[in-house]
Amino acid sequence: MAEGTLERTLVLVKPDGVKRGLMGKILDRFELKGLKVVAVRLVQVTPELAARHYAEHEGKPFYPGLVQHITSGPVLALALEGRSAIAVTRLLTGATNPQVAAPGTVRGDFGLAITPNLLHASDSPASAERELGLYFHAEDYLAYTRSDEKFL
Ligand code: CMP
Repeated sequence: MAEGTLERTLVLVKPDGVKRGLMGKILDRFELKGLKVVAVRLVQVTPELAARHYAEHEGKPFYPGLVQHITSGPVLALALEGRSAIAVTRLLTGATNPQVAAPGTVRGDFGLAITPNLLHASDSPASAERELGLYFHAEDYLAYTRSDEKFL
């Protein structure tokens, strides 16, 4: 019997990931793991959206650079669904600092810098709900069955 609550989470491939041509490789990690892509958007993040997304970091030394980076080009917003999707996605993403992220994770395999650290992934059910709401409307989510779902 499979375990884990069915969850949805938000992943953003940040402008460094988009501009380095890594969207496909990054999406591949999540799809191969068994997470279902239920909504997708390519978004130019505005300073206003960046401020809402990263409100918890306002006032921290890295905040201005974080907003500058996330608004510097398109981000690929992904809504992923699966059992324990939030924790599983964070594991695949790796530590915030790519220099110490484990090999095999996206940041561990593809990154060196902490601000352009390739992607963002929601860190809790509350964050996932709030952050998904910044990028997607209810009608954006599509329901379908993966052919391998019985194993997931
Ligand atoms: P993210 O997962 O999007 O959440 C907050 C972001 O702040 C983080 O990824 C990094 O890109 C960025 N950041 C920059 N400097 C730091 C730092 N010293 N500690 C944590 N996050 C940082």
